[in-house]
Amino acid sequence: MRVFLGRLFAIGCVALVCVLTNCTQQAPVVIPEETCAIDLVTVVSFQQDVVPILQSKCYECHAANGTFAFVLTLDTYSGVKSKVDDGKLRPAVSHEPGATPMPYQRERIPSCQVKTIQKWIEQGALNN
Ligand code: HEC
Repeated sequence: MRVFLGRLFAIGCVALVCVLTNCTQQAPVVIPEETCAIDLVTVVSFQQDVVPILQSKCYECHAANGTFAFVLTLDTYSGVKSKVDDGKLRPAVSHEPGATPMPYQRERIPSCQVKTIQKWIEQGALNN
């Protein structure tokens, strides 16, 4: 009987923890930082892979109507390419020395997004 009550108590505890931590929902799959979807992409596409990142993280300030459009616009290929050519884009997004870290005074963008931009630059920053 004591063993039974002990087990019941244990099960009760687990159930309580479940309710408190919402463990009935499927646990999110944790993708290690090193593994990115872009690793599986042979040729990184400017339009498909890079533009969506810039759109969500940079256009607010660097689109034609953005807050800092007078500094730089990144909503055209030529605008982005100019920052590849002067070597500023890569350090800006990776927060390495060589450029003001971007997005300005904010957290660095997720490492898979940094990796996507780096891979695109390494492949020649094509307008593809
Ligand atoms: C909140 C506004 C804001 C956002 C969002 C933002 N920037 Fe900037 N960006 C700035 C400002 C302000 C400057 C000028 C900073 C300076 O010259 O020190 C700048 C300058 C730059 C420069 C030139 C840096 C240099 O050292 O010459 C690059 C490249 C750049 N941004 C890229 C990006 C990219 C890529 C993103 C998105 C990942 C981004 N920015 C998001 C405000 C922003």
